[in-house]
Amino acid sequence: MNATVEQAAGVASLEGKVALVTGATSTFGIGRVSARAMAMAGAYVFVTGRNPDTGAETVAEIEAVGGQTSFLKLDVTVEKDWVEAMAAVRQQFGRLDILVNNAGNLAIGPIEEMPLGSVWYMVNLNIEGAFLGTSYAWPLMKDAGGVVLDINSSAGQSGSVGGTAYPSSKGGLLGLSRAAAIDGRRHGIRVISIHPGFTWTPGMERVFSREGYDQGARNIPLGRGAESADIAAAVVYLASDQAKHITGIEYNIDGGSSAR
Ligand code: NAI
Repeated sequence: MNATVEQAAGVASLEGKVALVTGATSTFGIGRVSARAMAMAGAYVFVTGRNPDTGAETVAEIEAVGGQTSFLKLDVTVEKDWVEAMAAVRQQFGRLDILVNNAGNLAIGPIEEMPLGSVWYMVNLNIEGAFLGTSYAWPLMKDAGGVVLDINSSAGQSGSVGGTAYPSSKGGLLGLSRAAAIDGRRHGIRVISIHPGFTWTPGMERVFSREGYDQGARNIPLGRGAESADIAAAVVYLASDQAKHITGIEYNIDGGSSAR
């Protein structure tokens, strides 16, 4: 059985924390479900994304379950958007406790057919986006400490079929997470790399039919893929004070695939 968002929210308390999640507006995506779970666990959550309409929808969904939230327009590859978003966070709270670098996308295909443009697209989105987020969050976390959660992928640790640009970029993101974790210890900032395996989300739906996905998921040791709430449960825990001795790790949520 997969986790529910209520179970994810019940993992730990985030009472009084201020969080920002990137790419948080995709209906049942990892970012949106994590944002909802964190708000239900007590955090004030800045939902961010490129589309104000789906942003407003996400805010309404979180408010409907009693969460505190607001939307900030933020394309993670645009530095000016980061400047403006962090200025808004600073003005409202003067600090940021939790950053979830979640925004991402998939470009897959045979290496000999992969256009260089797709490689740069992945690098800009998956590495540069998280780099900008982390560097702009740093000053808002330095005084009181904080947590940066990078949503990586199994593909950041091992090769995958048809994977070229995506695993390259996620492998680079892992390097960033590790380096930031070492830097962060001087400031009480924890940085953790989260590695979901096969997870049923709108992003996955663009690549696989549900049937194809279920068939692929049968090869996973647990015999099923994850749902976004399974990832959200880890996000709530790792962001919480219960995880305050955890930093610099790769946290796999892959149904056991990495054990093979
Ligand atoms: P999704 O497509 O449902 O959600 C991704 C979100 O990122 C969307 O809201 C999209 O609009 C947003 N986004 C894309 N480019 C952006 C940009 N430049 N600025 C701001 N937002 C942007 O996908 P999903 O599956 O929820 O993915 C979330 C994260 O989880 C990604 O980093 C992905 O690589 C990672 N992941 C997903 C897995 C899966 O099986 N679904 C497995 C491993 C990792």
